[in-house]
This record gives sequence, C-alpha cells and structure tokens, in this order.
Amino acid sequence: MQYLPKVGIVLGTGLGELATQITDSQEIPYQEIPNFPVSTVEGHSGKLIIGKLGDTKVFAMQGRFHYYEGYSMKEVTFPVRVMKELGVETLLLSNAAGGMNPEFEIGELMIITDHINLFPEHPLRGKNYNELGVRFPDMSCAYDATLRAKARAIAERHGIRIKEGVYVGTQGPTFETPAEYRFFRTIGGDAVGMSTVPEVIAAVHAGIRVFAMSIITDLGVEGKVVEVSHEEVQRIANSVQPYMTLIMKELIQVS
Ligand code: HPA
Repeated sequence: MQYLPKVGIVLGTGLGELATQITDSQEIPYQEIPNFPVSTVEGHSGKLIIGKLGDTKVFAMQGRFHYYEGYSMKEVTFPVRVMKELGVETLLLSNAAGGMNPEFEIGELMIITDHINLFPEHPLRGKNYNELGVRFPDMSCAYDATLRAKARAIAERHGIRIKEGVYVGTQGPTFETPAEYRFFRTIGGDAVGMSTVPEVIAAVHAGIRVFAMSIITDLGVEGKVVEVSHEEVQRIANSVQPYMTLIMKELIQVS
C-alpha cells in the first residue's frame, strides 16, 4: 500500500453512493481479511475500499456488522480496531434512525451530538487492551464538537436543513413499539437506531475522533407512529442520500 489514510468511513445507510466517488481505489473483500466478519444484511455488501475522496485519503468500510445479525460486540467493533492499527484518526459514520423528537420530519438529517447505549452487551466488556485505550474511557464528548460545527456550517451553506440530537442505540431487529419510542424520548433520545454506538465506543476508546449523522427515515413521535419496514427505511434513505453524501464529502476535505 502506498499510503495509509487518516480518515475512516463506515458507509452505513445513506452513504452507499460515496463509495462510487472514491478514486485511485483498492478494494479488499472482507472474506480476504483475517478475522473480519462477513456482512449478511440486505442492502449491505462487504468490502474495504482504500482510496481518495477529493484530496483526502480514506479508508471506507462498505458493509458494517450489526449486533442483531448475531455478531458479538468484539466482531462488530473489530473493523474499528483494524482502522486504528492502520493509523485512522477520524471516523465518520452514518445510519438510518427513527425520529422521536416532535420537531423532526421524515427525510431530515440529524447530526449526532451524543448517544444513549442500550445494547445488552458492552463492546469494551472483558479484558482491556491498554495499548488500544484505557480501562474506563471518558465519554463526555464522544462526538467531536469541531466536526459537528463544520458539518453544520456545510449544511447551512448548501441550504440543507439539519437537526442535531441524541441517538439511542438498541439491539433491534424489531422496530420500536409506540411505548418504546415514548420511553426512549422520555430518557432523552431524539432518534433511535440499531447501529453506530458500538463502533463509536470502540473508536472513542482508541482515541479516534468521531462524527456521525442519521437520516430520519420514520417517526416514533407520539400520535405519528405508523407501520415501518426495512424497504421504506431504505427508500427514504436513498432519497436523502445525495445530501448526506455532499456533507460527508465536504467534511472529509476539512477534517
Ligand atoms: N427504530 C430503530 N431503528 C431504525 C428505525 C427505527 O424507527 N428507523 C431506522 N432504523
């Protein structure tokens, strides 16, 4: 490899297109990487892409591992550890989420300011590898404030409406009942989803700067909860994808 990128991207829902914009790329299917899990969920294919976005070298994970697929937390977070070993200093992530904040609308983007971890297993449970990070990591500013401000500025410059809020990470694979959405709102959540939190914890533990953004694909707002499906989530995410891609791409240039 001629160079090692400092920026890692988890191409979650809404960022698939970004992969097509990576130039001078080298692709490594997950099957060829020792100890890498292989992605199974519909809409997520698995490979690492190393290349350039604009002038910035990036390390992109196309296809992530979800806890609901049956992977252990060690497997879900393994790629973040690999990125750390390869020198990644900044990690960008995306996801689809259900909005609980009554101000949110379907199709909006939300910059994640903080999270509530409701996964049943902690990714750092067990032996701590001091060479990776400390036993009791600080989480007072898990989502880098500078990157958040830059993303907000980029969105404003392009006239893209953007919200900010707290992401609740749950194991899935069910979407929430109305009572669960109400509960997550009550405890301080603005949106809920089934990913991101494990990778963010592993990244923060390893001293990696994090930026993450959600596409609000459905509403868990009292009185507005309707039937939701994976297909509908994907459909909304695809329609908002150009905006998410634009913000991430510009953020990468200034990160
Ligand atoms: N809940 C959990 N995960 C999700 C949702 C939701 O409403 N929407 C998209 N991912």
